[in-house]
Amino acid sequence: MQKKLTLLPTLALCLIAPVAFAYTGQQATRGEKVFSLKCSGCHGDNGQGGVVKKMFNGYAGMKAPPVAGPGALPNMETAENIYTFIKHHMPIQKPGSLSNSDCMDIVAFDLKANKIQEPGKKPLTLQELPSIKVHPGA
Ligand code: HEC
Repeated sequence: MQKKLTLLPTLALCLIAPVAFAYTGQQATRGEKVFSLKCSGCHGDNGQGGVVKKMFNGYAGMKAPPVAGPGALPNMETAENIYTFIKHHMPIQKPGSLSNSDCMDIVAFDLKANKIQEPGKKPLTLQELPSIKVHPGA
């Protein structure tokens, strides 16, 4: 009996853990705005990806991978990967120009656009990013 009682809370935690993270609708909406302004020129209006246009000079002709929809985020495993990648490498012609909160908002937008997680009441935080799988089925 004693054993069963101590097992219960552990079981409950296991059941809750997969949905413990979330982001707010506001985070995703802000992220979508930053995306439209600073990213869609290369990654497409709907994040579908595309070929970098002439106006981006040295980067023209490069393939900007999709970030939403089919085949999105092909090289990202976790939400932390997205955060770190965009913080240091995007936008490609001006890396390091995004604020930390812009990066977090864009991650929230990515989670929503790819239906990885539904929005909730709690804002997404740095600590949660490593446990969020971008391709949960893979
Ligand atoms: C001038 C064009 C351009 C702009 C603007 C741009 N990107 Fe990119 N992005 C690229 C290219 C090209 C790659 C592929 C880089 C490579 O192959 O090394 C890329 C790769 C990425 C990836 C990696 C996806 C993966 O799984 O490989 C992410 C995430 C990303 N961009 C997000 C963003 C975000 C967010 C913004 C806006 C803040 C942005 N990009 C703005 C051209 C651009």
